Amino acid sequence: MVRVTRNYRFSASHRLHLANRSDEENQRLFGKCNNPHGHGHNYVLGVTVEGPIDASTGVAVDQGKLDEFVYREIIALFDHTYINMDVEPLREVPATAENIAFVIERRLQAAWPWTQPRLAHIRVEETKRNVIELDVINFHV
Ligand code: NI
Repeated sequence: MVRVTRNYRFSASHRLHLANRSDEENQRLFGKCNNPHGHGHNYVLGVTVEGPIDASTGVAVDQGKLDEFVYREIIALFDHTYINMDVEPLREVPATAENIAFVIERRLQAAWPWTQPRLAHIRVEETKRNVIELDVINFHV
C-alpha cells in the first residue's frame, strides 16, 4: 500500500467573528481573520489517498479522475467565493481552516466513487503558519 497526495489550490475570502463574544475577544481569537470586511486566503488543499499499486499502470491512483472529482466536489464549491455566505455548511459555523477541512472531508467521503484507493487524509493550508491535518477514519471497506 502507498499513500499519494495531490495538491490543489483555491482562493476564497472569509471572516471569523463570533456574535456572542466581545470585539476584543474576537480580535484575540482570530486576529486578522476578524477584519470587519473580510479578507482572502490562497488555500492549498492536499488530498491523500491510500491503496495498492496497480500492477499494469504502476500507479495507485488515476490522477486525472481524482483531479476531476476534487475539482467538481470541492474546488468548484470554494474557489472565488465568500465562504461565510457561499459555502452552505459554513454559514452556520465559523469558516475556520479546521471547519473547512471537516466540510471537505465529509463531501469527499459522501461522494467517493472508488473502493481503491480510499480517502486517507486531508490537509488544508490557510497560510504557511496555519495548517490543518485531518485523518480520515470512517473509510469504507
Ligand atoms: Ni483568514
